[in-house]
Amino acid sequence: MRTELEEIFKRHAHAKRDSLIPILQEIQDKMGYLSEEAVVSVGQHLNIATSKIYGVATFYNQFRFEPKGKNHVMVCRGTACHVLGSQTVLEAIENKLKIKAGQTSRDGLFSIEVVACIGACGLAPVLNINGNFHAKVTVEKIDEIIESYRNKEE
Ligand code: FES
Repeated sequence: MRTELEEIFKRHAHAKRDSLIPILQEIQDKMGYLSEEAVVSVGQHLNIATSKIYGVATFYNQFRFEPKGKNHVMVCRGTACHVLGSQTVLEAIENKLKIKAGQTSRDGLFSIEVVACIGACGLAPVLNINGNFHAKVTVEKIDEIIESYRNKEE
């Protein structure tokens, strides 16, 4: 991980504080999440307190601080999905998995991420799990969908 971070910092050798978000995005793209080590290193590189970085990063719900689960549930919160009830769908998934968006279940089986439009608005509200689209999702379907992925693991 160290080398990957160093490569990113090399590309942002004279970066200032306004590079914080792009650097965090690059790290997450590369590593899938922002580890504590990564956040501390970014703080040293940009001379920003770690607590401040967490403060900024948690404001944007695109960042995650835990590795993804084996099954990564992406909930679209684009306009079409939002209008058709993606918020209640998200809440149902959070209740079912007992984790919040951005978190990973303790057994490592599931993680949830809220994403912007994933380009399937005609199927709204949409979930994407491990690359598979689930169309016109309702709260009633959540149990069945999640259990189908859980069963694949057994
Ligand atoms: S708004 Fe959800 S797929 Fe476009």
